[in-house]
Amino acid sequence: MSADQRFLRHSAHEFLAANGTRLRAPAAITQPGRVRAAYSFTSAGLAAQRPDGVVDDVHLCEQVVVDAVEEFTAVGDLVLDPFAGYGTTLVVASRMDRQVVGVELDESKVELIRRRLAPGARILHGDARELARLVSGPVDLCVTSPPYMSSVDHPQNPLTAYRTLDGDYARYLDELGAILADVAALLRPGGHLVVSAANIEENGVETPLAQDIAERASRHLALRQQISVEWDHPPSWMSADCLLVFGRPDA
Ligand SMILES: C[S@@+](CC[C@H](N)C(=O)[O-])C[C@H]1O[C@@H](n2cnc3c(N)ncnc32)[C@H](O)[C@@H]1O
Repeated sequence: MSADQRFLRHSAHEFLAANGTRLRAPAAITQPGRVRAAYSFTSAGLAAQRPDGVVDDVHLCEQVVVDAVEEFTAVGDLVLDPFAGYGTTLVVASRMDRQVVGVELDESKVELIRRRLAPGARILHGDARELARLVSGPVDLCVTSPPYMSSVDHPQNPLTAYRTLDGDYARYLDELGAILADVAALLRPGGHLVVSAANIEENGVETPLAQDIAERASRHLALRQQISVEWDHPPSWMSADCLLVFGRPDA
């Protein structure tokens, strides 16, 4: 069984919300013939993975990173996270003997990640919007979860870590799309990108963020799989959660 085939056990050919609702998906997403499967996580399980001193659960489930690193990389390969957060991607990939490089805007999180990683591991305090200047490829795998926003009533700008009130959904998608273009350019031929993305529903307004991110990344990479992620207690704002798996077109 090839590496890709093993990861496909988790893939879904339909884009389904945690509550079973079928989601609108761009044509490029659909991959007929794939067995539907999903990750199923619990809030308690995610909380148990909180790094020391952290009081929220804005972090990836470690299993997602373990599976992606196993499937798409070999020992010594380079794994990137341009939105490093508390460092899940970097910590898990380091534990699996991969090289890592991450970018994080919030200095306190950079310090936290430095404490979690071996000395010398590359975690850069910087802005992912300058990724091309900050990081050199080739990168074998990027596993990331960008900061989210809803399309209306969201003045906080996700790409300043919500510190400024100039949030604008269209500009956010443009800037996120540019970061994903930089990731694509950093990937080696055959490299992969795994993005955690959710749809948001607030005050009766649906933001199809996962589809919008899929559409932006698909301008530069081929969408290979969409994997639904189910939660026992999803946050009230989350109408669907998924993982989007992209490959370089020459992969
Ligand atoms: C959803 S969290 C990532 C969590 C991470 N995957 C983990 O498991 O810990 C998004 C992160 O992106 C960071 N961020 C926001 N804007 C950024 C930017 N322009 N450049 C780099 N990091 C940014 C935020 O500070 C936040 O830590």
